[in-house]
Amino acid sequence: MNEQVPYDKSLDNSLALMQEGYQFIGNRVERYQSDLFEARLLGQRVICMRGKEAAELFYDSERFQRNGAAPKRIQKTLFGENAIQTMDGDPHIHRKLLFMSLMTPPQQKVLANLVMDLWHHSFRDIAMNNEIVLFEEAKKVLCTAACKWAGVPLNELEAEERADDFYSMVDAFGAIGPRHWKGRRARPKTEEWIQGIIEDVRSGRLETAKGSAIHEMAFHKELDGKELDARMAAVELINVLRPIVAIATFITFAALAIHENKGCKEKLQSGDRKYLEMFVQEVRRFYPFGPFLGARVRNDFIWNQAEFEEGMLVLLDIYGTNHDPTIWEKPDEFRPERFLDWQGDLFELIPQGGGDPAKGHRCPGEGITIEVMKTSVEFLVNNLEYEVPGQNLTYSLVRMPTLPESGFIMKSITLK
Ligand code: HEM
Repeated sequence: MNEQVPYDKSLDNSLALMQEGYQFIGNRVERYQSDLFEARLLGQRVICMRGKEAAELFYDSERFQRNGAAPKRIQKTLFGENAIQTMDGDPHIHRKLLFMSLMTPPQQKVLANLVMDLWHHSFRDIAMNNEIVLFEEAKKVLCTAACKWAGVPLNELEAEERADDFYSMVDAFGAIGPRHWKGRRARPKTEEWIQGIIEDVRSGRLETAKGSAIHEMAFHKELDGKELDARMAAVELINVLRPIVAIATFITFAALAIHENKGCKEKLQSGDRKYLEMFVQEVRRFYPFGPFLGARVRNDFIWNQAEFEEGMLVLLDIYGTNHDPTIWEKPDEFRPERFLDWQGDLFELIPQGGGDPAKGHRCPGEGITIEVMKTSVEFLVNNLEYEVPGQNLTYSLVRMPTLPESGFIMKSITLK
């Protein structure tokens, strides 16, 4: 046992984690007045930590590895087995550069433009008296846009089912029971679908454009010069498509932020690009999505008097770091203006991980997420008129991942 750091004496904290959700680490950081503490989770010793310094440490790949960190239940739903999230060293960097090459600013713009077109398309024929659940609509728009952008053929009639499958894999990560099993069924179904398409590309049955995600994934060569096997290529292509669909969560929270914060809508309508950027950053900081990340200690070391032992699991609190009062003034207030003079520190705002994405595991899709969110917010404030009827807009901090309970219902909608 670590004698220099607070130790949570509970026999096992797995139940507490399920009961406290996003606030599990933060609650104990406050209780012990320490950014780092040790606990038992799922029968093993775990160090939990929060904050900018902790994030800097966590992204030191000399000290931590990802292989062996993600439990099988996460790999069988969210990530896919043996995918990029579980890789280390040169093979990881090589795979990562492939992902990064698909997501350059021009490609982000192409995707954002597709999303804007599809938002218009999806609301074009809407009858005045229809009610729409924004989250459901966003999933379909994003799934259709993601497939088109990536070069994956998708029939309009399949969009809803595929979108549901992609989101089920995300929704399963913090769940036990039916929600988990729904994601568990969606994964092999989706992998088989995408694997078939990869095989079609390789055999020439489906023509693809160089530079598109499907083309590059299908013909990517590993460091040993070999192509990925078709299933692995499918898993990694799903690692591009699924998270694009997941942006629906942030879009729904953005709509909630517009609804609940006086003055935001007018400022967004003014066309001030800086404000739009700040608003989107604040949505990503303020609202919960990923709760924490896990890695394993490579070799014994001591940091801030704590003994990190080889093989130990270490959790970095994402939600807590985004709400850390030593980084963010009044962290529980929604205030886009806080980003006015923000210098873009790599370890403070970490809804999608920290550090340099080209050198570590930080999400390669942040640019895409931000552009797609900006476009969708612009659509909501400039191209739609809608009312927000009475509904349950609260969101749980226990359910992971979470969402406004109603999914954000809109009515009396007109497309401008
Ligand atoms: C990794 C969050 C959107 C692709 C990650 C990580 C987080 C994250 C927390 C883990 C970072 C780490 O392990 O250190 C999110 C959120 C998103 C989002 C909240 C918004 C919905 C995207 C998009 C893409 C994407 C749009 C691709 C188009 C990936 C990939 C990884 C990753 C491939 C694995 C990177 C690696 O292991 O090196 N994301 N992400 N994500 N994300 Fe995202």
